[in-house]
Formats: sequence, structure tokens, C-alpha cells
Amino acid sequence: MEKKIAVMTGATSGFGKVVAQHLVETNHKLVFLARTESKAKELILNLDKGSSTEVDYVLCDLSSLASILRACEELRKRCSRIDLLILNAGLWNFEFQESKDGIEETFQVNLLAPVLMFQKLKDLIPTNEQSKVLLTASALHQGSIQFDDIEFKKSFSGFKAYRQSKLGVILTTRLWAKLPGNSSISFYSIHPGVIRTQLGARAGWLSRTIFKLIGSSLEKGARTHIYLIDQPASTLESGEYYAKAKIAKAAKETYDLQEASRLLETINTYLKDYLP
Ligand SMILES: NC(=O)c1ccc[n+]([C@@H]2O[C@H](COP(=O)([O-])OP(=O)(O)OC[C@H]3O[C@@H](n4cnc5c(N)ncnc54)[C@H](OP(=O)(O)O)[C@@H]3O)[C@@H](O)[C@H]2O)c1
Repeated sequence: MEKKIAVMTGATSGFGKVVAQHLVETNHKLVFLARTESKAKELILNLDKGSSTEVDYVLCDLSSLASILRACEELRKRCSRIDLLILNAGLWNFEFQESKDGIEETFQVNLLAPVLMFQKLKDLIPTNEQSKVLLTASALHQGSIQFDDIEFKKSFSGFKAYRQSKLGVILTTRLWAKLPGNSSISFYSIHPGVIRTQLGARAGWLSRTIFKLIGSSLEKGARTHIYLIDQPASTLESGEYYAKAKIAKAAKETYDLQEASRLLETINTYLKDYLP
């Protein structure tokens, strides 16, 4: 059987490593993005690969739009098509931090980056009803998009910036699934659970301790991604938000497609120099 081609961000740490392992075990050619060569090589070394496995990586720092653009150009050279696009990378900052582009980093890495990647790679995704785009969201997505200060430059809260970025991911997923030009691709947003990863590594000691105490294993964190990878798209619902390997209840704000369109317009103003 011909291998499916999977492109993934956020494979080098956390439960993303378990998802990457699953991909190589299930007849995928995997091309992952990594921001450091050492972590890319470490992942390749640690993946338990069969003899016919194809794993490759492209260096990319998602906090630089130019780096994303270069990575997408490189992916075009290495992938004849992309059957599965897994946009899993994310961060949670506890202090205001700017990306290489001078944009609040959570907004850029968690939201602008996946939107830019999808728009740059969309034409490589086959229109065959089995193509999937998976975006990692979070149960922490309540609230609204703060359009008057979307980067929280006036008053920064790491929690609000993270929460907003994940609301944005769910809104974008729902909107993409409805756009006529995307009709043959399936889109899913995912809450992995509260998982012991490096996500909270920069939090204060109390939050880090709580995270360690209540967090589940990496294997549990990968469960919903693996479910969505394995199931035929015909048994799933495109645009939906999944947790614990089933459709999950999300906040009412995530269903507002007008808000989603407004958000995507705002995102595209940030990306205007990088899109045709
Ligand atoms: N852990 C949880 O409880 C939880 C709950 C809900 C949602 N999530 C979401 O799950 C996803 C995976 O996170 P995780 O929990 O596995 O945390 P993690 O261990 O910190 O992994 C984050 C991944 O994102 C990558 N990344 C971050 N910034 C990047 C950048 N500028 N350029 C390229 N790659 C970058 C990291 O690369 P490096 O390996 O180089 O650091 C790593 O592979 C995130 O979207 C997160 O928001 C996690």
C-alpha cells in the first residue's frame, strides 16, 4: 500500500513524540518541523522505526514568519503531496514576549503560524476526501477574541493570551471546514487533556507542581490525535472539536462563524506580506 505523507509541527517534545511514533508505525512517511537540529536528530534516533520507514525533518522556527515561509518552500521540494497536516506546536508564555517579527509570541506561534502553514501548503493537500488537517487546541479556550488589543500589548496576561490563541484555533477549524474551497479536506481541533509536558515549564513553581501532580501521561495526550489519524474521515465530523477520542462540548463562542471570519481577516492582515 502506498505510504501516506504526514507533515507535523510539535513532534519534538511532549505527546507529539507519541503521535510521531504512531505515524511511523502506521505506514506514513513523516516530515516534521523542528526548530533545532539537535532535537530533530534526537527524535529520529528515538523513533522506533521499521525497515521501510521514511522520516525526515525541516528546520523551522515558528516565531519567525520568514522561517515558516522557507520551511514551506522546502516541504514543497520534499513532499509530492500532504495527506495529513498536523499543526500541534504551541507555547504558553508567562511573560510578554515578542516573536522575531515583533508580534506577541503566543499569538504568532499558536495561531498565525498554523494559519500561514495551511495557506501555503493547501494546494499540496489532495482533494480525495481522506485528507486531514489536525490542529491542537485546548479546553482553555473560553472567552472572546480581544480585537482591540489582540496581542495584549496594553496589559499582558499569559493565561488570556493562551486562552485566546486556542479559541482562535477552534474558530479557524470550524470556519475552514465550512469554506467551499476546502470541501474535500477534513479539519479537526483537539484538546489532548492535561498532560505532563514542557508546556508549563516556564510557569512558577506552584503551577509547575500542580501540572506535574494532575497531568496525565504522554500516551494519554496522544490518544485523540491517534484516533483522528486512524479513523476514516467518513466516520468523523469535519470542523468539530474532539477530546478523549470523541466530539467534545466546546464554549458557545467557538460556534460564532462571523467572529471566525473577522479573526481570519485580522490574521491575514498580519500575514499579508507572506501570502499571494
Ligand atoms: N500539555 C497540556 O496539558 C496541553 C493541554 C492542552 C493543549 N496543549 C497543546 O498541545 C500542543 C503540544 O504541546 P505539549 O503540551 O506537548 O508541550 P511541549 O512539550 O512544550 O511541546 C511543544 C512543541 O511545540 C514546539 N514549538 C514551540 N514553539 C516553537 C517554535 N517557535 N518553533 C517551532 N516549534 C515550536 C516545541 O518545540 P521544541 O521541542 O523545540 O521545544 C515542541 O515540539 C500545544 O499546542 C499545546 O498548547 C497541551
